[in-house]
This record gives sequence, structure tokens and C-alpha cells, in this order.
Amino acid sequence: MAKKKDENGPVDAHGDHRFPPPAEFKKAARVSDESIYERAAADPQAFWAGFAEELRWETPWKEVHTFDPPDAKWFIGGKLNACVNCVDRHIEGPHRNKAALIWEGEPGEKKTWTYFDLYREVNRFGNVLRKLGIKKGDRVAIYLPMMLESVAAMLACARVGAVHSVVFGGFSSESLRDRILDADAHLLITADGGFRRGKVLALKEAADAAVEGCACIENVLVIQRGIPGHECSMKEGRDHWYHDLADQVDAWCEPEVMDSEDPLFILYTSGTTGKPKGIVHTTGGYLTGTYATTRVVFDLKDDDVYWCTADIGWVTGHSYIVYGPLAAAATQIIYEGAPDAPDRGRFWRICERYGVTVFYTAPTAIRAFMKWGDDWPAGADLSRLRLLGSVGEPINPEAWLWYHEHIGSGRCPIVDTWWQTETGQILITPLPGVTVTKPGSAAKAFPGVDVEILSDEGEKIDGETGLLAIRGSWPAMTRGIWGDRQRFIETYWSKWEGIYFPGDGAKRDEDGFFWVIGRVDDVINVAGHRLGTAEVESALVEHASVAESAVVGIPHEIKGTAVAAFVTVREGFETGDELAGELKAHVAEKIGAIARPESIIFAADLPKTRSGKIMRRLLRDIAEGKALGDTTTLADPSVVESLKSQYDDEA
Ligand code: WTA
Repeated sequence: MAKKKDENGPVDAHGDHRFPPPAEFKKAARVSDESIYERAAADPQAFWAGFAEELRWETPWKEVHTFDPPDAKWFIGGKLNACVNCVDRHIEGPHRNKAALIWEGEPGEKKTWTYFDLYREVNRFGNVLRKLGIKKGDRVAIYLPMMLESVAAMLACARVGAVHSVVFGGFSSESLRDRILDADAHLLITADGGFRRGKVLALKEAADAAVEGCACIENVLVIQRGIPGHECSMKEGRDHWYHDLADQVDAWCEPEVMDSEDPLFILYTSGTTGKPKGIVHTTGGYLTGTYATTRVVFDLKDDDVYWCTADIGWVTGHSYIVYGPLAAAATQIIYEGAPDAPDRGRFWRICERYGVTVFYTAPTAIRAFMKWGDDWPAGADLSRLRLLGSVGEPINPEAWLWYHEHIGSGRCPIVDTWWQTETGQILITPLPGVTVTKPGSAAKAFPGVDVEILSDEGEKIDGETGLLAIRGSWPAMTRGIWGDRQRFIETYWSKWEGIYFPGDGAKRDEDGFFWVIGRVDDVINVAGHRLGTAEVESALVEHASVAESAVVGIPHEIKGTAVAAFVTVREGFETGDELAGELKAHVAEKIGAIARPESIIFAADLPKTRSGKIMRRLLRDIAEGKALGDTTTLADPSVVESLKSQYDDEA
């Protein structure tokens, strides 16, 4: 066990800590011995099919799986509906009146939907979609805050066979427009607003700006969040209040029967080039993969109160708020706002009030909690917590140990889960009733998943840093990038023959545990959110003053990584704090607040290789204030010297 700070001085975060599952946890765990790994490895198809069989299929599958890289198919010939599996299936049994979603608005309103409430809502919502002409295969963009209706909106799309594309409510109208256009969405679902740190998010205004110039959008459906004194304009013929239409439709909405391989949703994520890519997920495999991992990784039992703090705008919200937990008939918490509104104890009061038992959040949040001090969690009764999870970026051992001690009271196993938008489901994780965890390691591949560390050339590497590689396929694996097959192949399937390349560096230790280091491509992970450096660069050069820019990630105490932007300005523009402030605001407006650069570094020139490539490694070192490495490949080494001395002067 970790030593308590007050007993024996500070904990050495880099010591050899190992945490076996507590005996009490293990005794009651769904999975409590290693045999699951052997069983899954011996017959992965039977292993996954076992979970799929717990779902409802309208037509059984004929074949479990085929994989012709990069094309995977799961539960071939099977027919099902994801919404029916997450809702209808539960109202026929003992879960009819079980709380499905417990919501708290940031200002403090509370609302609970049972599975039967959710059932009524998704039926009405599905009929509203049909009333607006939405049919199977149509794309629907969703731009909403964290509301109960947001979950209903996604499930209603699934019910009528429409493909949802959820866009995080913190993204700018321009980002929303790009995603609407790329997916050719016919309908946009938004709200009159939401709350974040006491401020009203003007979502409808942003949505209006986004659909300007989107010929594909026929209707905008607006959910009323209810914000006193806040009105939003409604465009005649295009905009509709959800509650008006919901009053006019039937209570029953016949679900579409979907093929296992029919698309369920598109979710955009950042890549190495400027344009975000639409990651496509299909129905049967995705539902099976998220359901299985929810059950096994979060050990969910009937009386658990589960809280995943992600937003539905990210994949974590899709897989571990909407599809996995609802397929597992979980009771879960949905909270609208910020963790420090109105004060830094908000999350812990929510845990206390609802008796949260399983809590899943991101390292960036944990680091913020750490900084805010131990008194906030100590002031709440967290004694019902029994399992903690982490996702989105590597968790540093200091944060892991703090989480374990101050949130979990040393009693709760921690599952550090590695996965991606593309993988759809957790692929590397401890099993809470089985694994002896080590702080900072995501432990082992989930049963039935084959992960290894390879070199660029495809040789196996042990004990040293290499590239994460995944062999074979798994049910929730992405089936492609929307409308861009070539990019799909180039991004994930061109490094090695038939092996998936996630873009992360990692190493494996002597116990076979994985230690994920982070992205090895031009994607940076800011506070657990993926950003392409090229995206930020192209936003910057759209500003009149910017001639050229290069963006790198630099270490940040809370965010893990922060954006640092090197900028050369056009003739006639004055560099300084004022322009730096303007450029930061410009990026936030173009992409969203998450992309706002932490620092802008003005430079006379940017260091390039002879072939004209910007030397990011060097820039990173400069931004971090490190000594210069090998600069011999530079076209003009003096550039770097002047850049470095300038930066040193400023620092
Ligand atoms: C990183 C989020 C280390 C990784 C679910 C990956 C992690 C990217 C972990 C995907 C973890 C996610 N340890 N790194 N436990 N979880 N990552 O698509 O770099 O938003 O490639 O999916 O986050 O981010 P995405």
C-alpha cells in the first residue's frame, strides 16, 4: 500500500509501488482471476460473442468476425437496434423504474429519468426526427450541452437509423460548420444555451452562425435548456422548438432494424493534417465492445452509481456514458458544468449526494483537484466510492497516488484505461479485481485484444520505448474515416502490414505492463483533448498579421500538454503582448477555447530542414527552454540561435 504522507513523509511517486486489488473488492468482483485472459486468447470470437449474446438481436448473426485489413466486420448478418438495447430491453424487466440518468445543472437544478422515462423520451424524440424528414442513413449533427435530452437525442438517432455526429459544445461555430459540411448533415440539434462557470453558453447563436452557408441543413431543432432571461432567435421555417414538436407526435416510435455493420455514428477527431477526420463506428460490434468493457473494466453491478465526467462531445461520452453503461442498465450521473462552479468542492458534493460508487475522469482533472488541495474531497463523504478510473492521457504517478489516497481513501482500485476515438472501446487497462496495478501504467491489453510494441520497421521491442501496435481486430474498432478511405489506410494501416498503428509511443516492462508515453505524430493532447498542430497553425495563418506559424506541445502542470505557437509576422505588424493576446483569442474563436495557445513566441524565422520541414523537436526544446540538440540539418542554423537567445531573453 502507498504510505500516507503524514505518517512517513512524502510518497516517492517513482518508487516501485504495487497495488493488489483489495480483498473485499476482489471477493465481489465480476472478474476476479486471470483465467479470463486465457479463455479470451484461446477463442476470441467466442469470447466476444458471449457478450453479444447478452444483447438483443432481431436476427442472429451468421458469422462472428472477418478481418481483411483494414476491413473488419463483426456479427455478420446480425440485425439489431442500439437504442432498443440501451432502453427498450430494460423496461421489460426489473429495471423499468430504475434511475437511468440523474442530472444536475450547474446552477443546481436536479432531474432524474428512470429507464421508463428515457424510453418515453426516445420514442417521442425519434418521432420528432421522423417528422422532420430524417430517415435511416441520414446524418444528424448534435451540438448540445450536457442535458438529459442530449443523451435522448443520440439514442433517438440510433432508433430511427440516423447517423449522429456530435460536436462538442465548446467548439466554435466554424468548427461546427466544417463538421456539418463534411458529414453532409440534414438536421442540427442544439439548445438555447447551457451554463459553464456561471456564464451562459450561447449555443444557438453559434449554431446560427455555423449553419449560415450550410446548404445541407434543412432544419434546426432547439431544445430548451431553460435559462431565465435568455432568449434566442428562431428562424421561421428552419428552427423548431423540440418541446413543440414532441407534443405533436405519437408515443411509440418503431425502431429501425439495423444491420450489425450499419453506421451508428461519426465522431470527428484531430489528425496530423489540418482537417479533422470523421471516425465512423458501426452498430453491432461497437455496442458489444463498449458493453463488454463497461461490464468488465468498471465491474458494474445493479446497485452501482456510475459517474463518467466526460462530455458527450468526446468519444468517452459516447462509449462510457451513452452506449456501454446504458446497454448495461447502469444508473449514472450527468453533470452540466465545471468542477469548480460555484466552488472546488462541487464534484465531491455530487459524489456524496448520489452515493457515487464508480468514478471515471481524466488526469488533467485529477491534477487540478490536487492543486486545489486535499480539503475539498476531505470535506465530503466519499465512502461509497469503490472503483476509480482514468482516461485521456498518461496519468503521472503523482496524480495516480493522490487519486488513490485522497479520492479512493486507499481502498479503491484504479483503472487507467488506454483507448482512442478510433478504437471505440478500452483496449489497455487493468482489471480491477485481478490486476496488481502500478501507478502510471495502463497495465495489460483487455482480454481478447493483442497489443505489442514494435519498431518503425515492425520488429518487436521489449523493455524500451517503441510504438504501440494492435494486431487483429476488436468489435468496436472504427470502420473508417467518413468519405476518405485513402486517409484511413495511410493514417492507421501503412506503418506495418495489416497491423493497426494508433500513433502512440509506449514501452512494455518486465511484467508485460504497458507504459504509454503519448503521441508520436503531430497530434498533441491538451487536457485530454486531441488537437492537431496543423489545425492550430492553419487557424493562426488565417490572421492578417501571421506569415507563418509552427505549433508544438509543451509540458503543462495541469493540462499535461499546452499549446506553444511560434509565429513570424508580416511586414508592418508590431509584435508584443497585444498581438499575442489577439492571436490567442483568434485561435479560440476559430477552433474553440481548448485550442487557445498558452504562449505565442514571435520569431524572425522558423528553423527548417534542408527539405523545408519545420523542425518541431527543436522548437519544442526552445519552448521548454532546453539546450539545443543536433542542428546540422538546419538550412540556416543562425535562425535557431537567434530564436533561442530571444526566447531566453523573454523567459
Ligand atoms: C491518449 C480518448 C495514456 C493517447 C479515449 C491516445 C492515453 C489519445 C490514455 C486518444 C491513457 C488516452 N494513457 N494515453 N490511459 N487514454 N490516451 O481519441 O495518446 O480523444 O492516442 O480518445 O489519448 O484520444 P481520444
